[in-house]
Amino acid sequence: MTKTANTMWGGRFAAGPDAIMEAINASIGFDQRMAAQDIAGSRAHAAMLAATGIISSSDAETIEEGLLTILSEIESGAFTFSTALEDIHMNIEARLRELIGDAAGRLHTARSRNDQVALDFRLWVRDQCDAVDAALLGLMQALLAQAEEGADWVMPGFTHLQVAQPVTWGHHMLAYVEMFSRDRARFADARARMNLSPLGAAALAGTSFPIDREMTAKALGFDGPTANSLDTVADRDFALEFLAAGSICAMHMSRLAEELVIWSSAQFRFVTLSDQWSTGSSIMPQKRNPDAAELLRAKIGRIFGANVALMTVMKGLPLTYSKDMQEDKEQVFDAADNLSLSLAAMTGMVRDMTANIDALAAAAAMGFSTATDLADWLVRALGMPFREAHHVTGSLVALAEAENCDLPDLTLTQMQSVHRDITADVFDVLGVQNSVASRQSYGGTAPENVRAQVHAWKARLA
Ligand code: ARG
Repeated sequence: MTKTANTMWGGRFAAGPDAIMEAINASIGFDQRMAAQDIAGSRAHAAMLAATGIISSSDAETIEEGLLTILSEIESGAFTFSTALEDIHMNIEARLRELIGDAAGRLHTARSRNDQVALDFRLWVRDQCDAVDAALLGLMQALLAQAEEGADWVMPGFTHLQVAQPVTWGHHMLAYVEMFSRDRARFADARARMNLSPLGAAALAGTSFPIDREMTAKALGFDGPTANSLDTVADRDFALEFLAAGSICAMHMSRLAEELVIWSSAQFRFVTLSDQWSTGSSIMPQKRNPDAAELLRAKIGRIFGANVALMTVMKGLPLTYSKDMQEDKEQVFDAADNLSLSLAAMTGMVRDMTANIDALAAAAAMGFSTATDLADWLVRALGMPFREAHHVTGSLVALAEAENCDLPDLTLTQMQSVHRDITADVFDVLGVQNSVASRQSYGGTAPENVRAQVHAWKARLA
């Protein structure tokens, strides 16, 4: 038995779709997440249709009441979603017809599902920008609290994951504050660019009805209407920008997650993650695994993947709308869910982690980490050209290595065997505390700088 044609668009169809056609075509399984946005858009549209005299105000009032009923049905879980009705737009409109009768048929005047879906999705992504912004703020505050507490805790700074120069814990935390602040700026930037209303672009060419696009734009919190109807229904840049900003943000979290994995290992012991953010092993009783950090490190793959998938969906599409674009939503939903979850988990881990101050300090002194300070001293105290100082310091490092000790453990006599002008003053710069305290150049790691930056960030974020 063939099914009857779709009541929303079945006028020219004698038969309904094949079951497989229905399965590949339907988006209701996922786009029901945009129900609230769809209803908000329809309410604004109905009010505008009445204000411009396109429909009567009594029809608009009936539509408004019906939409509010549907919203509460959806919120309470009483709404029955139907695959035969394809998507959220037609599910809601069909229910509206059940509730209010013929007036429901007037809601879709001067509108198409093409501008409708562009609107709903934009509203959804805009909400996500706000959610991510709030989550990033929380993460930055957790990092700032760590930075403030450990403004002068010394730790090794690495390049190539080899000890390079001592830095401060606070400085390291503030490095991530900078990254997440740029992420916030990228989301804010994307949000500002997407904040134009697609409603009224209709199918692709605009409409012959005297609609007021400024009015609906304003009602929905947009800065104004989009300027080109073709671009409007064909555009998914807003979703791509969200995914691109999300990818960079997730990449930052993945780097921090990687550091937490390394730092919490028995070999490093730089941090202890709290019980809330660790798991045990079913066979090895001693284990405390940083699973949340590892999962977070992996989740970036989904977010990058969504970005690549949607770029690929869009890249070959002729103007304007093609059904390919229905494949935009699941990617963005999944990326947004995992980004939010990752931000929450990262904030929790950072907030609850304990730095092992002694292990950090011991590691900071390893690996001849103050060799640069020694070279700088030779330049300052003895007037040596830096290249020569670099060479002399290299010889001192080789000597310490041969003696199996660190640079500060060499005696003055041993030092003078490499260069006879070296004086006892050199020992002042070889301690890691002195090393970090001396890095007072703007942006440098000195505790004083860290405190000033924490202060400035707190004021900026207040
Ligand atoms: N479910 C569709 C989507 O997500 C809505 C737009 C349908 N438009 C159309 N011309 N078939 O893209």
